[in-house]
Amino acid sequence: MQIHTTIESLRAARKTAGRVAFVPTMGNLHEGHITLMRQAGEKADAVIASIFVNRLQFGPREDFNSYPRTLAADCEKLEAAGVAHLFAPDEGVMYPEPQHYHVDPAPAQISILEGEFRPGHFRGVATVVLKLLNIVQPDLALFGKKDYQQLMVLRNMVHQLAIPVEVMPGETVRAEDGLALSSRNGYLSPEERAEAPRLYRQLLRICEAVRRGDHDFLKLETEAVAELAAHGWKPDYIAVRRRADLQPPVHADDPLVVLAAAKLGRTRLIDNIEI
Ligand code: PAF
Repeated sequence: MQIHTTIESLRAARKTAGRVAFVPTMGNLHEGHITLMRQAGEKADAVIASIFVNRLQFGPREDFNSYPRTLAADCEKLEAAGVAHLFAPDEGVMYPEPQHYHVDPAPAQISILEGEFRPGHFRGVATVVLKLLNIVQPDLALFGKKDYQQLMVLRNMVHQLAIPVEVMPGETVRAEDGLALSSRNGYLSPEERAEAPRLYRQLLRICEAVRRGDHDFLKLETEAVAELAAHGWKPDYIAVRRRADLQPPVHADDPLVVLAAAKLGRTRLIDNIEI
């Protein structure tokens, strides 16, 4: 695997790489990322991954400084997964001057769910992803469904700005007890790690109830919030939404997803299940 720290070097390599699938990440790679890399490899001549912890998408009180940075271990995993090129710029390469131009996603898409609790987050994500897409110019870009709203925002950005890239989603990878893999799981104490799968179990409970025909979403959401709170969680939201735009369901046949975000101790976890 070739490691590129400059835009020029990455661009030169991309020119001869054929059909390219791109997997942007913030590093601290786990099996969820590696599954995306393998999926990418099946669709292209070469996989380009990126590792860049993007300051623009973190709020002032969020974990930018403490976000795990594990480049050497990440490189080994990428190499083993057959990734051809890694773009690992530092901040001076991505943001050599203050970033004055930004992508502002549609307010309806970012005033809800994660956007309500993380103001500015999706603006930062969309801006860096557009910049990365301009640098890499891939044919295909892969994003995990664990960040469901991020996937929706980025799909819409690609569509509305006519960016010539195909967006491909990757399924969430879970630990044996159901916890969705996430770099932030590393923040959990052993007790919190044992408690953490309750979030997934609550989503599963809602999913099964809806599939059985219970469409009292508010009751299901309220029960799940209460159950988590009773076990020491601080839920931000648990919501049954339409898959397409993450707005509340209107028609009986709307394809649905149930999404949640909750804090366990100091760690904020998110998860979702398509119903
Ligand atoms: O999902 C992530 O890891 C990040 O939000 C992304 C897409 C790499 C942008 O920084």
